[in-house]
Amino acid sequence: MREKTVAESAAVLSEVMMPVHANHYGSVHGGTILKLVDEAAFVAATKHARMNVVVASMDHIDFKHPVNVGDLLTLRAAVFNVGVTSMDIEVEIGAEKIKEGKSFAVGSAYLTMVALDEKGKPAKVPRLILKTPQEKRKNIEIKQRRQERIEHLCR
Ligand SMILES: CC(C)(COP(=O)(O)OP(=O)(O)OC[C@H]1O[C@@H](n2cnc3c(N)ncnc32)[C@H](O)[C@@H]1OP(=O)(O)O)[C@@H](O)C(=O)NCCC(=O)NCCS
Repeated sequence: MREKTVAESAAVLSEVMMPVHANHYGSVHGGTILKLVDEAAFVAATKHARMNVVVASMDHIDFKHPVNVGDLLTLRAAVFNVGVTSMDIEVEIGAEKIKEGKSFAVGSAYLTMVALDEKGKPAKVPRLILKTPQEKRKNIEIKQRRQERIEHLCR
């Protein structure tokens, strides 16, 4: 199985926030953003594994800045760590006030996705090549987060 780089899994998803995504005073629902986080992570994991994938777990998310109707939401996802059948994905969530051209960070999300074979059983994924110092740093951080989630599961 060919090893893959972080860049090969990179996925960008953008969507303009509409009234259907928000409450009656124009603030976008957290659940709308979570759904897009799930989709962005799904694309990154599928690009790495080229197999069916499911989300096994997700970290908590802190929303640092509100997103409103009319904002352009952009999610950038990539695989930063792999186990045997699992992949750890970071999703950076950003938004832009399109008319003003002002961008701001909304938060980051971390998910573990598992690749499945045709029978729905966990299947091996390609090893990951870490090239840049930033990729190596994120790999250490994301492994730590994953470990904390697994420990929480075992409690
Ligand atoms: C995720 C799932 C496939 C794991 O299946 P399993 O039989 O427990 O398989 P394993 O114990 O062999 O775990 C497979 C991998 O997932 C990892 N994993 C399982 N649960 C995890 C969790 N909560 N957090 C992080 N990693 C987890 C394991 O560490 C293992 O990683 P590795 O192969 O890289 O070492 C299974 O629990 C499942 O299908 N869950 C439902 C997923 C789903 O439908 N999600 C959508 C929302 S409902």
